Amino acid sequence: RSAQALIRPQLPAELTEKSAGCPFDPAGALTELSGHGGIHRIEHKGETVWLVTGHEEARAVLAEPTMSADRINSPRARALISPELHAEMFPPERQAGSFVFMDAPEHTRYRKLLTGQFTVRRMRDLTPRIHEIVTDRLDAMIEKGPPADLVHDFALPVPSLVICELLGVDYGDREEFQTRTAKLLNLTTTVDEQIKNTTEQRLFMRSLVREKQLNPGDDLLSGLVNDTDLDTDELTGIANLLLVAGHETTANMLALGTFALLEHPEEFAKLREHPELTENAVEELLRYLSIISMGVSRHAKEDVTIGGVTIRAGETVVVSVPSVNRDAKEYADPHALLVDRPRGHHVAFGHGIHQCLGQQLARVEMTVGFTELLRRLPTLELAVPADEVPLRTDMSIYGVHALPVTW
Ligand code: HEM
Repeated sequence: RSAQALIRPQLPAELTEKSAGCPFDPAGALTELSGHGGIHRIEHKGETVWLVTGHEEARAVLAEPTMSADRINSPRARALISPELHAEMFPPERQAGSFVFMDAPEHTRYRKLLTGQFTVRRMRDLTPRIHEIVTDRLDAMIEKGPPADLVHDFALPVPSLVICELLGVDYGDREEFQTRTAKLLNLTTTVDEQIKNTTEQRLFMRSLVREKQLNPGDDLLSGLVNDTDLDTDELTGIANLLLVAGHETTANMLALGTFALLEHPEEFAKLREHPELTENAVEELLRYLSIISMGVSRHAKEDVTIGGVTIRAGETVVVSVPSVNRDAKEYADPHALLVDRPRGHHVAFGHGIHQCLGQQLARVEMTVGFTELLRRLPTLELAVPADEVPLRTDMSIYGVHALPVTW
């Protein structure tokens, strides 16, 4: 098994693949299944998984305090990974600070400390800087001339630069951490590769944390050093989580979002004519694209009844974000991309206590990114046929590996 398969519940490929006809639609079998209720018991390769496809059921699962997010120490992971290998893959210093895998009250403590750093002021101060970063990237891309790879020249650098500045990471180190993140998120990376990769990344981040402890600046990591009693391992875990969560997600939304707009010329035109719609369009793209395409998983700590079914203690639940975000009970014409669709409650950022910590930042990056991209390059188009765009079907965060464009 790959490292990801050890902590990620396995579902039949026909439910997790993208639709054969459209790179933005969930698999036909998943859409078909969601027409028969909001929660489904799936047996696959000896595993039982509860698959949530309904909006109401998803919110109930993600708000349920007896549902655990600790995928590393779940009964499933403990059954699949020997104690020796578990100790090697997830030593205590690697688990420290990784609050996305923690439950209350441990999670609450970290989340409060982090919320204290993700202040309105810090986000507000960052907005003009995001404008500058977006403008610089577009200037450089335009200067070089078409064709360009929008992922390489725009979608990946913008959020990488932003998260580097926020954390106080040297952007010169991007190749190193971007390569490691890509391996971390690749569904086929082996256990040995993953151990090597995460160890290297931890050492990289640990030395940065040590630097901030000696010489604090005014970045977020220094803020955590100054204002909290978090130890070096905890700070390292938090910084790694933010770095990984902070650049790949937004990068894929920018690139896949642009691809989706180019494939929906009427929506592209609407947005170009009415830039004031961009904030709304960002919410619609988050819903429509649901880049956390494999969903978010939990396991039941106690028996619990949700959506009319009883989930037994120890059982695994996967909330299919793509399916939930296209629940026909919640959205009229759910499979259409409509940039002026009235804003609803999508779960692209999750729900409940783990709801995305960086969502406001991601929204600013996307709003500024799409607004400026369409303003500066109103004649943007694909430089290759749509079916030649390389899709990230091999990654746990969906998107495109490259987006060849011209203007
Ligand atoms: C959590 C999506 C951008 C930091 C999450 C979760 C989702 C998500 C679905 C919930 C995971 C779960 O319930 O298990 C996204 C998407 C993004 C994005 C779609 C971009 C469009 C960001 C950015 C940052 C960030 C820019 C950091 C600056 C985090 C963190 C968590 C999280 C730290 C864990 C929160 C917790 O466990 O309390 N994100 N995210 N994300 N995200 Fe994001």
